[in-house]
This record gives sequence, structure tokens and C-alpha cells, in this order.
Amino acid sequence: MRSKLVFLPGDGVGPEVAEAARIVLDAVVNKVGLDLSVETFAFGGAAIDSHGTPFPDETRDACLSADAIFLGAVGGPKWDNAPIRPEAGLLAMRKALDVYANLRPITVFEGMTGLSPLKPELAEGVDILIVRELTGGLYFGERIEGADTAQDKCEYSRAEVVRVARIAFEAARGRRGKVTSVDKANVLATSRLWRNAVNELHQNEYQDVQLEHMLVDAMAMKLIQCPSAYDVVLTENLFGDILSDEASVLSGSIGLAPSASLGNGTRGLYEPIHGSAPDIAGQGKANPVGAILSVAMLLRHSLEQPEAAQAIEQAVQQSIKAGHGTADIKGSDSTRQFTDHIVGLLPD
Ligand code: NAD
Ligand code: IPM
Ligand code: MN
Repeated sequence: MRSKLVFLPGDGVGPEVAEAARIVLDAVVNKVGLDLSVETFAFGGAAIDSHGTPFPDETRDACLSADAIFLGAVGGPKWDNAPIRPEAGLLAMRKALDVYANLRPITVFEGMTGLSPLKPELAEGVDILIVRELTGGLYFGERIEGADTAQDKCEYSRAEVVRVARIAFEAARGRRGKVTSVDKANVLATSRLWRNAVNELHQNEYQDVQLEHMLVDAMAMKLIQCPSAYDVVLTENLFGDILSDEASVLSGSIGLAPSASLGNGTRGLYEPIHGSAPDIAGQGKANPVGAILSVAMLLRHSLEQPEAAQAIEQAVQQSIKAGHGTADIKGSDSTRQFTDHIVGLLPD
């Protein structure tokens, strides 16, 4: 059966890394013989320019009827004062798709500790899966924006915590069997509910998984001090946003980090975790690996093609090991040169 993919290049480096993702996807489709339709739609700042809104109805309809959606990145100074910002379009899309679990794997590949800003002995063996709650919390609470006071409401229900915690526990079972749940339960009511709901689910269904709780400020420190001690890190929306940018640098660059946003079922939204990087946009400098590894996640989670996913992951590692890369990982390739090298390493 034909699978339907929607591509949303977006803004800044978004179209550059989306092009790289598309080149790799096309190469895999040719080799494996997948039956795919891929259509591109306007989204983000680009859609504000063309349609007057960041998440046009036709884009929304296409996403809702797709098997998987790939997004480059959105935002940029041009739209920072738009009545509806590109970022608001992204939140609306995550909500419309109900992709409540955002998986952000952070791996220091074997033999590549040299790319990390940490000492090699600290970077060695880092393999963390951040499971970030994506459709609740401060991002989606009532917002009041006055001239002199402002308010962002943070709300979580037990059911919202349980469904994302379940994804974390299930993921841990297929990995090293440990979940670190991160909150601010010494201050926040939502965090106390979070901790309670995670404990209850663990007690009832996942006693085989090791569970620990960590306050978010301490976690920020531990990620630098002993990152290899962590397996699955489960946390709420805002903490996950911040901790994942921090953790991404352990492997050398935010440009390397992919993500998958999943709900119930196999449909997913796939995007590198970085933004539109206006400082390097349009110069062929963007690292395409976060986007390319997001395609691997798409193949694994939404298209049931684990072998193709693995082939991409191996090609990326081999390419970096062979000294290829963009400037952010001390290489001298352009986005396109790096991408072509990775494609050249895909098996027949
Ligand atoms: P950013 O992630 O765009 O950039 C942070 C730093 O990382 C910059 O120095 C940038 O050059 C570098 N960087 C990012 N991606 C890179 C890549 N692929 N290769 C090499 N270097 C890379 O974060 P920012 O500058 O804070 O945000 C810029 C815009 O992007 C804002 O409008 C923000 O809202 C938006 N944003 C969008 C997303 C998304 O679409 N998912 C995510 C984060 C930020
Ligand atoms: C991310 C981004 C988004 C977020 C922004 C652009 C809304 O930073 O995907 O990490 O905060 O979720
Ligand atoms: Mn972010």
C-alpha cells in the first residue's frame, strides 16, 4: 500500500536540511523499493508569506491524512512580531496531530568522543533517549499578555502524564531498562502530580524497569557531570525543550540531533531538534544529520522499515568517522557535500 508523506521545509536552514532529508529518503526508496508519495506544503514563516498564516488549512488537511510528516524548522527574525508567529503554527500542528510524546535520542557514537566538548572519558558511551511530553504544560495553558503583567498557566492531567510515561517505560524495556523522571516537585504542583502518576504507573505495570526521580536543576548539572549514567529521561514539555538542547551538545552539535513526535498509532511528525538557525541560513553550512536521522526515525516508527533506518544511521556514523562533516563538527563540507557522502555509503 502506498504511504503518504508530507514535507514541510519551513524557514531558515529548514529548506536546506529538508532537501538533504529528501535526497536520503529518495535514495532509500530507490534501493528498498518503497511505495511512497511525497508532497511539499507551506508551513511556518514561509506560509505566513504565502498564505497569511503559519499553518494553512490545506497543510493541516494534508498532515492529518498523512502517514508521516517531516519538518525542517520554522521561525526567524522576519516573523518575530507577526500576529501569529511560525512557532504558534508548530504548536498548533503538534496539538492537531496529538503527538504527545517527543522522542529525542542523544548518542555519542563510538569513536567520536572527539566531537564532544566534554572530556572523552565523560562523553564515552553516552546514549540517552529524552522522552519529552509535547502537547501539555506551559506551552498550551491559558496565556494572558498585558502591558505590565503576563501569565502562562501550567496544567497537566494524570492521564496526560500516564500516556507519555508509558512510552518512556516501554522504550526503557527495549534499551537498558532505566527511566529517570525529571520534575520540579519541590516547588510545582504539576510536578508533584507528575511524580505521583509516574510512580503509580511504575508500581502497577513496570516494576521490571528501574525508576529514579531527579529535580530538573540537578539534572541540568548531571547531564554534564555523568551523562553516561542515563538511559531514558522522561520529562514535561518545557523542561524537555531545555534539557534536550543541552544534551544535544554532548555529541558535538545540536545539528546532529533528530526527533520523532508520536501519539497513538503509527503516524508521526519528524524534525531535527534545532531551529531555523538564522545566523547560518542560506549559506550551505547547516549540518543535515539531525534531519537525516529524523528520516531514519520516520522509516522505523511510521513505515516499519527498521533495516532502512539502520542503514541510514550506519552511513551517517561512517561518514563522520571518515572525517566528513559541516563546520559545527569541525568538518569542511557544505550541507550538500556531507549529504552526498552519506548517500554514497548507503548499502545497495
Ligand atoms: P537554533 O537551533 O536555530 O540555533 C541555535 C544555534 O545552533 C545557532 O548558533 C545555530 O547556527 C546552531 N545550529 C542550529 N541548527 C544547526 C545545524 N543544523 N547545523 C549547524 N548549526 C546549527 O535556535 P535559535 O537561534 O534560538 O532559534 C532560531 C529560530 O528557530 C527561532 O525563531 C526559534 O523560535 C526557532 N526554532 C524552531 C524550532 C523548530 O522549528 N522545531 C526549534 C527551535 C527553534
Ligand atoms: C523545539 C522548539 C519549539 C519548542 C519552538 C520553536 C516552539 O524549540 O522543537 O524544540 O519549544 O518546542
Ligand atoms: Mn527547542
